[in-house]
Amino acid sequence: MSGKRKGTGKPYFDHRIGASFFKKTKEWHHIERLVDRENDLYIEIITDPKTGEILKKRKEPLSEHQGHGSAKKKSTKTTSWGFHQGSDTMANKKAKLELTWIGKENRPKLEPRILIEDPEKSYHATQRHSENDIFDNRLIFGDNLLALKALEPEFAGKIKCIYIDPPYNTGNAFEHYDDGLEHSIWLSLMRDRLLLMRSLLHPEGFICCHIDDSEGHYLKILMDEIFGRSNYLTTIYVQVRYPAKTLKQDMDFHKEIEQIHIFRKKYGAKPNLSVRDLSFDKYIYYVDETGEGKEKVLGGKRAQIFSKDNYKIRKSDPSENGLKEIWASGTILDGNSSGRFFRDYLTGRAKEDGLGAMYKVYGIGDDKFEYRYFTGPKRANATKGKYYQGVPISQLENINTESTSPIENFYDLAGAFGNCRHEGGVEFRSGKKPESLLETIVKHFSRPGDWVLDSFAGSGTTGAVAHKMLRNWILVELRDHCHTHCLPRLKKVIEGEDETGITASVEWQGGGGFRYYHLGPSLIVEDEWGNPVINSEFNAAMLAEAMCKLEGFEYAPSEDVYWIHGKNTETDFLYVTTQFMSKQMLIKISDEVGPERSLLICCSAFRCDPSQFPNLTIKKIPKAVLKKCEWGHDDYSLEIENLPKAPPEPEEPAEDKPVKPRRKFGKDKAVHPTLFDMGGD
Ligand SMILES: C[S@@+](CC[C@H](N)C(=O)[O-])C[C@H]1O[C@@H](n2cnc3c(N)ncnc32)[C@H](O)[C@@H]1O
Repeated sequence: MSGKRKGTGKPYFDHRIGASFFKKTKEWHHIERLVDRENDLYIEIITDPKTGEILKKRKEPLSEHQGHGSAKKKSTKTTSWGFHQGSDTMANKKAKLELTWIGKENRPKLEPRILIEDPEKSYHATQRHSENDIFDNRLIFGDNLLALKALEPEFAGKIKCIYIDPPYNTGNAFEHYDDGLEHSIWLSLMRDRLLLMRSLLHPEGFICCHIDDSEGHYLKILMDEIFGRSNYLTTIYVQVRYPAKTLKQDMDFHKEIEQIHIFRKKYGAKPNLSVRDLSFDKYIYYVDETGEGKEKVLGGKRAQIFSKDNYKIRKSDPSENGLKEIWASGTILDGNSSGRFFRDYLTGRAKEDGLGAMYKVYGIGDDKFEYRYFTGPKRANATKGKYYQGVPISQLENINTESTSPIENFYDLAGAFGNCRHEGGVEFRSGKKPESLLETIVKHFSRPGDWVLDSFAGSGTTGAVAHKMLRNWILVELRDHCHTHCLPRLKKVIEGEDETGITASVEWQGGGGFRYYHLGPSLIVEDEWGNPVINSEFNAAMLAEAMCKLEGFEYAPSEDVYWIHGKNTETDFLYVTTQFMSKQMLIKISDEVGPERSLLICCSAFRCDPSQFPNLTIKKIPKAVLKKCEWGHDDYSLEIENLPKAPPEPEEPAEDKPVKPRRKFGKDKAVHPTLFDMGGD
């Protein structure tokens, strides 16, 4: 296998593990190569196969990677790693089935911001409620694109379940953009966020994206492109409204159903199926026949009718001889043979048999008994009855095996959607989801202790549910309801004061906590002469953390060694200083680092030839990082005034037509919401 995709010049592997023989050491080493196409990265990790120690870690832009042993050579030929320089050919582009839209090729070069905790807003319970209390949850205020990027160094590959409920982009937010430009912008906004979410997902993680039919089909294809078609699991359909008795005058369609597209990160990830209850817990009823029953044929079946004084139903310990009590009403009346029998042959018999009569009907049911008991209404005017079912034979045969059932892909939650307004004690009119829906998602796609993320938090439903279900959570919200809704709602959950939603069903008592963060400012700003300089809002610790993020190091300042601010491997470190580094200072640090370790120094200036220090790499900041990303870009949520100009309207013949006023962009900033806030749910 050559390792390249024929004709594209791109490697077809995402992840490869191999071994290489090093002539120098005469030893075999373990090599792991990763290709991260979204972030344009080629990563190579060399480890000692005996100890597992990382000996070397190399990262470089994928587009610049030249292959094994030739990182500096420029060639358009295929390398031994299987790809060559050069862009995709048109032929290849044509061969790929993909969705295209205006501006698809533009990708923002995001600055990896630091997250700043505000301890005044962070919150935790005053006492531990159990061993399972979770305190390290995160509530982040800010634009989710920058927040997801900021989370990447710490959380890449760690999130088990992502649920998002983005604005649906219903209707035309802007009348000038009915040529599809607005739709294109929505797709770009979603694509940029989904790519980052994919990077955050654990290999066995899942993403669930809630949407309606305005963009739902496009979103599915976009997600196919990002996560791979083979990783599409299903679309869950949710009934969110009751059928309208009278259609609203101004609408042709009444939208009752919404969708949740579900993808896994990697082939092989399995959701948690529903576990069938195989216990006898509900089989606690026992019937004593204390008198004779009257024989009759009902619906072609032999039946004995007992008046209310000729039998007793008592409760006792659950057992395989016990019976389960089921109301014969509602959907049961059509849904199974006992329900139908009650509906067709027992309804209305109270007049003849008396109130509270019991019917023993032979030849019905799937349990070990040859008969099934039914009881009629006990009071005049009542119509409902009950029946008593034994343990199904299939369950008796599988007593010791766990039984699972498939996850359903339709949920009728019209009632729950109608009633969730007060859940969590916060009213939210922009698409609040019921806790019961999130319970289903969290239950099937994560386990206690896993990380759950929602980067369109709204009123904080996902966080509240994840917390009550003992998962770690991260929420991101751009608007002020982060403070007016998410904060108070989550505090109530922690205090055990929220009695709504799933609190009772999961027996939530309170406990745990969360940290509140906001996005740090941009690292580079312009000085009064327009030159890029390090933002004066950064103190030494913030600068060190920001540089670690930019250079791909873990921020891990050492308490003992002043020049260790970040680490890449056990032997490769980062030091950040705004000082000028003299030759004497560099000699001293190089001696301390020693021949077995390496250090990247980011400083404001240095004097000497850096090649005389083989264990040091020296970079000047901010110069060395200027091209790494877009600086000072705070809002990627796309305010209306940033939208591309609408195409000019066709000129009309000079008739006396009234002039249509054009909307002016760039004005009324406070009045216009963002594209991601428009309409929808
Ligand atoms: C439909 S609501 C989510 C409702 C939520 N599922 C609930 O149950 O309350 C979408 C939310 O995404 C937020 N949002 C939109 N664009 C965003 C962005 N760029 N970054 C962070 N949040 C954003 C909106 O402010 C809104 O609160």
